[in-house]
Amino acid sequence: MKKTLCVLLAAAALLPAWACAQPVEPDLSAYEDAGGKAEIPVEILGGLDEETREDLVEAPKYAALTFDDGPRADTTGRLLDGLLERGAAATFFVIGEQVPCNKELLQRMKAEGHQIGNHTYSHVRLLKADKDAVVEEIHKTEVLLTEAVGEGSFWLRPPYGLIGSERAELIRTPMIYWSVDPQDWKLLNKDKVVAAVLDAVQPGDVILLHDFYSTSVDAALEIVDRLQKEGYDFVTVEELFRIQGVEPQQGTLYARPDRVRTLS
Ligand code: NI
Repeated sequence: MKKTLCVLLAAAALLPAWACAQPVEPDLSAYEDAGGKAEIPVEILGGLDEETREDLVEAPKYAALTFDDGPRADTTGRLLDGLLERGAAATFFVIGEQVPCNKELLQRMKAEGHQIGNHTYSHVRLLKADKDAVVEEIHKTEVLLTEAVGEGSFWLRPPYGLIGSERAELIRTPMIYWSVDPQDWKLLNKDKVVAAVLDAVQPGDVILLHDFYSTSVDAALEIVDRLQKEGYDFVTVEELFRIQGVEPQQGTLYARPDRVRTLS
């Protein structure tokens, strides 16, 4: 009797195995319809072999487009139109002098989810400027930006990416360098700028462009089109730090959230 019971229990233990012998194929298209970003439930993932699982859960790729030396009414406006159409966010390091005449463009940037940063008042070389001038160049721009778009933390991109450690101590925000520089201001050629970025870009990169040039605007929009097809999502620099779990420090110059640039 005992032996029979054991056999019966053993058979019962096997039951779930053959009850599941014909798994129902999960309808994964439903998740694609949701925009491709929805997470696949653990119970479905658990039932898939490792290879299929890796294909389905490909790590999302993020990059930040940054634009210096604007805003400029014609080119920046066209860029904002294109970014909006494509659902891409960007970061604009603007020159203080150009803020009063372009308030509407700046308000539009903020309203459309872009990040606005400080590129000094008159594009000064912070490496050589005396300390008072450094503070003034940055402060004046902050005041103008606050007037235009309200309170904010306007991160600094030093002109030419240059700042020394003594001047950096005066900076009360994180500073952003870049990790991909196609030299768009020199090439002034859409196809060459696109090729230079596509050649170099890796997830997590900060791409340097200038919305001052029409060729750079054309290039930026093509870069977005091409990289979105490869699974890239374009986010602000601030968002890139958040995604990577890096807490940005004031006075530190970052090439990208996970890479600090040595001060000049
Ligand atoms: Ni610049």
